[in-house]
Amino acid sequence: MKNCLTSLFLLLLMQTVKSQSSSQEISLIPTPVSMVHKEGYFLLTEKTLISTPGADEATAHIASQLASRINRAAGFRNAMSSSASASGIRLMISSSEESLGNEGYRLSVNPQAITIVAKKPAGLFYGMQTLLQLFPKEIESKTPVNHLSWKVPCVEITDYPRFAWRGLMLDVCRHFFTMQEVKQYIDEMVKYKYNLLHLHLAEDEGWRIEIKSLPNLTKVGAWRVKREGKWANCKAPAADEPRDYGGFYTQDDIRELVKYAKERYVNILPEIDMPGHSMAAVASYPELSCTPGDYHVNASEEFMVWGANGQQTALVDNTLCPANEKVYEFADKVFSEVAKLFPFEYIHIGGDECAKNFWQKSDAIKALMQKENLKTMEEVQSYYEKRVEKIVESKGKKVMGWDEILEGGLAPNASVMSWRGMTGGIAAAKMNHHVVMSPTDYAYLDFSQGEPTTEPPVYASLRLNKVYTFEPVPQGVDPEFILGGQANLWTEQLPNFRAVEYMMWPRALAISECVWSPADKKDWPDFVSRVEKQFDRMDIAEVKYSRSMYDPIITATKDDNGNMFVVLGKEMDNVDIFYSFDETNPDNFYPKYTSPVPVPKDAATLKVITYRNGIPIGKQINIPVTELRKRAGFKS
Ligand code: ACM
Repeated sequence: MKNCLTSLFLLLLMQTVKSQSSSQEISLIPTPVSMVHKEGYFLLTEKTLISTPGADEATAHIASQLASRINRAAGFRNAMSSSASASGIRLMISSSEESLGNEGYRLSVNPQAITIVAKKPAGLFYGMQTLLQLFPKEIESKTPVNHLSWKVPCVEITDYPRFAWRGLMLDVCRHFFTMQEVKQYIDEMVKYKYNLLHLHLAEDEGWRIEIKSLPNLTKVGAWRVKREGKWANCKAPAADEPRDYGGFYTQDDIRELVKYAKERYVNILPEIDMPGHSMAAVASYPELSCTPGDYHVNASEEFMVWGANGQQTALVDNTLCPANEKVYEFADKVFSEVAKLFPFEYIHIGGDECAKNFWQKSDAIKALMQKENLKTMEEVQSYYEKRVEKIVESKGKKVMGWDEILEGGLAPNASVMSWRGMTGGIAAAKMNHHVVMSPTDYAYLDFSQGEPTTEPPVYASLRLNKVYTFEPVPQGVDPEFILGGQANLWTEQLPNFRAVEYMMWPRALAISECVWSPADKKDWPDFVSRVEKQFDRMDIAEVKYSRSMYDPIITATKDDNGNMFVVLGKEMDNVDIFYSFDETNPDNFYPKYTSPVPVPKDAATLKVITYRNGIPIGKQINIPVTELRKRAGFKS
């Protein structure tokens, strides 16, 4: 009995030590430039002093942000001091730290003190984000967690970003997101050291920013009929249906958001997408169109036909008319007010996916082409973009546009956001224009991230392991012209903020590492294990995320005799896939996938599930054999 009790005690002790040591495991995203993990830990208590010796206002503000995070999760009211202290948490600016640049930091944790040193406050802010990830995961709690030992492992970290532009785009047009939600988006992005929020503010489905000289934009353009259903498959609104779905940010709201973002070292890039994607503007001011008509803000009914080459044919003219002087007066008014609201040096003028089929029929466009000697519709758009560039520059701002602005001739000073792959970005960089890389192939977070039949319906797929291979500087391009990288989150299919989070995480973790960390520090298996630690934190923070990385990648092939085989891939090595064709639900006692499996002749459904170490880790996926036949290339 005594032996039994001793064994039990030892077992419990081992488990305690194990859980303590695993809670002390260091798991940072994005991974820092250099880190040395040392013995021991710093213990945070309610007596820990937070000091900011010789502090400027910005440093003091970062210290108070740290104190309030600690207060929220631990319930401590740590004292703050602007005098030097040999212990506690110390935030210090040192102008001699040239090598850290504007956003780098050095973080040192020993049993007596935690010290963050940076050349600029932004560096201290990022040092604080790293420190928060070193705390136990309960630091993410929204209410105080009692009886926890708030240990921080001893480390020496030196860290700074690879790129100055680390962006996330949020489309607040297809669905409107409240001030609180945008602030939450900012809170979530800065944890992973993103520094740029691109707000997509004008679209076919809504105009989202108050322009005082153009009141219809928010009286009419910000509102549409509510539809729930599959995007572009909904019924067009009837004349008498209420237009009460949507919203906009007042100019005071924008000022508040800009301030909120600035306090978190985030710039906001406003995008006014024109001359395509302009249905909300045209519904507000129909005289801006080349095509007289009765317009309404799109309610997610089909109005564009997409050709195989990505060319679009609009069923309704959703463009501003480049041949109409009123359009340039409109742009002048919009950009005057936008430029005053956003301190960031760039304004994004859109330029993507502009359908030109109505321009082709327009007499005004024909006359413009003759007058300006324009040969193609792309040159017509380029004429428009060059004039808009001048307007934006007259407000003291630089122009950024989607890569379509290259077609027909790039405006002289414009920077390019490359989304249709890297080609546009490469071409622009070779012409000595600045570029932000946000290619669909790696950085489109609206694409589905797991088995498509189980995900919200989207037209393309992009899994986490592919996102992680994003490299913003293509070979043969001068890195000087690549400002950085950005992930884009279009919200056609994302009607609420939980859905936004689900699409962001964990893929935005991968992008954060691609744009912050040195390329040679990237390590996929290690990243996956760090993502799993972030999942634990997100659970506590009540942030939604996708677990699709655990699910198999299901494809099918056929041989010359018409036999079909199912091929199950996976994103990580340390999971096993089990399957059935007999309509029962597989577990880890079922056949384990090792190589392509012939699909039995009478099978109707493939069911698969992943396990790790005997525990289910992925969700069960049921996929009809009819779907597998399509994937294998059978006609029926
Ligand atoms: C885009 O995705 N249309 C820029």
